Amino acid sequence: MRAKIFADRAFPIGEIDPRLYGSFIEHLGRAVYGGIYEPDHPTADEEGFRKDVLDLVKKLGVPIVRYPGGNFVSGYRWEDGTGDKAKRPRRAELAWNSIETNQVGIDEFQSWAKKADSQVMMAVNLGTGTPREAGDLVEYCNFPGGTELSDRRRKNGFEKPFGIRTWCLGNEMDGPWQIGHKTAEEYGRAACEAAKIMKLADPSIEVIACGSSHSGMPTFGTWEMEVLDRCYEQVDYLSLHSYYGNRSNDTAEYLGCCRDMDEFIRSVEAICDAMKAVKRSDKTMYLSFDEWNVWFHSNDADKQIAPWQVAPPLLEDIYTFEDALVVGCLLITLLKHADRVKIACLAQLVNVIAPIMTENGGKAWAQTIFWPFLQASAHARGKAMLTRVECPSCQAGKYGEMPSVEAIAVENGGELTVLAVNRSLEEDAELEPDLRGWGNLTLLEHSRLYCDDLKAVNTAADPERVKPEAGDGKTLRRHSWNLLRYRFEQ
Ligand code: AHR
Repeated sequence: MRAKIFADRAFPIGEIDPRLYGSFIEHLGRAVYGGIYEPDHPTADEEGFRKDVLDLVKKLGVPIVRYPGGNFVSGYRWEDGTGDKAKRPRRAELAWNSIETNQVGIDEFQSWAKKADSQVMMAVNLGTGTPREAGDLVEYCNFPGGTELSDRRRKNGFEKPFGIRTWCLGNEMDGPWQIGHKTAEEYGRAACEAAKIMKLADPSIEVIACGSSHSGMPTFGTWEMEVLDRCYEQVDYLSLHSYYGNRSNDTAEYLGCCRDMDEFIRSVEAICDAMKAVKRSDKTMYLSFDEWNVWFHSNDADKQIAPWQVAPPLLEDIYTFEDALVVGCLLITLLKHADRVKIACLAQLVNVIAPIMTENGGKAWAQTIFWPFLQASAHARGKAMLTRVECPSCQAGKYGEMPSVEAIAVENGGELTVLAVNRSLEEDAELEPDLRGWGNLTLLEHSRLYCDDLKAVNTAADPERVKPEAGDGKTLRRHSWNLLRYRFEQ
C-alpha cells in the first residue's frame, strides 16, 4: 500500500510543552526501593541512588516526574519522608498492602530529580489529608525561610527552596478504590480550598484537579462538570488517566486503542470549554494526562503476591514489541492534542509498569516501550503540525475502521520530525511525504522499531532483542514504529 503524509508549515496545532514527556514514580512495588534507590547496589551513589537507572532515565529524556502517587498518596503523611532517616516510621501502606519504610521522601526525591535532569510534579493527599496539610507541604518545599516549616527544611539540610512548580490535587478521587474517595461535590470543594491555600503559600505554582480515572468510569462527564463547577478559577489543569491492554489477544484491535484516548481527550476538552462558557471565564483549562500506558500483563501475578512486604514485585509488566507499537500510537495521539494537553506522564518509570526494569542488586535495562518514548522525547519537541495521512484503512475490532498509518509531523528547530506507526499486520507501506512550506528537505535519519515476532520482549539476559534499527527512508514496514528526521533550510 501507499501512505501519503501531508503537513503544511502554515498549519501548526500548537507548541509542545516539554512536560508532555513526563513520567511517574510512585511508592509502589519496586519503583522506589530497588528501582531508583538501592544503597547496597554496586552503582549506588552517595545518596543511595542507582546510577545505572539514572543513566537510563537521562537517556529517556523525562523533564518532569510525578511523585509520590498514585493511590499511595491518598494515605500518605508527607512528613514521614523528611528529616533524620533513622527516625522515620515504618507504616502499613494501605493502597498496595505493603510496608513503607519512608527511607525516601520529598527530601531525597527532589535531589534524585535534579540528578535525573528533571523536575518534580508533586501530588498532595486529598484522600485522608486536608487542604491545610497540602498548604504545609508547599510551605515546607517552596517557602524561602523564616517560618517553622521552611526552617525545618533548612535544618534538614536544604537551605534553598525546592521550587516545585507543578502540583496534583490528590489522585483519582472519583475511584471507589481510592483511600478517602469523595463525591464530585466533596472533591470539588476540597480541591478549591487546597488550591487556594497552596497558592497563598506560593503564588507561582500551578495545580491540577483530578478528572476521571478513565473514560469508562460511570461518573465520567458529570464528575468533570461538577468538580470544575466548584474549582474552575482556582485550578490550571484537569487530569485524565488511561491504561490499555491486549486482554483478548486481538492485536488488530489492540493497535486501535489510541482512538479511545483521542475521544477521551476530545470529550474532556469539550466539557472544559462548556464550563468556561457557563462561568463566563477568560481562562482556558489545559489538560494533564498524568497517567497513561499499557497495563495488563501483571494483573494475575499480582494477585499471588503476599501482603505486607517491603517493595514487593508489583505491577511488573514485561512489555512486548506490540506494546511498544501501542505506546507509539498513544504518543502520536498526545502530540495531536499538543494545543490542550500540556502535561502527560508515562506511568510509570522504573519496574512498575515501566520502560526501565531492574534486578535487585543486578542489571538495569530498557523494555520495548522505552524506544518510541525515547525517540519522541528526543526529536518531537517544538511545534506539532496538523498531519493528514492518505492510506488504506484497516479494521481495529471494537474501535472500528482506522487508517493503517498513524502519523504526526513536528517542527523541531531546523528539523522536521515525522513519527509514524504502520498498524497493518500484513502490508508494508510505501511512504510518500508531502511536507509543504519547509523548502528542500534532506532526510537525516530513518530509524524504526520492527520485529517479526509481535510478542518479543527484552529481558535481563537478552536486553536488546527489540531495539531501533535503520530504515530505508521509503518504507513503513508492516507493524512498525518509525522516526524520520529531515533537515530544512530556515
Ligand atoms: O499507576 C498505578 C496506579 O494506577 C496508580 O496508583 C493509580 O493512580 C492508578 O489507578
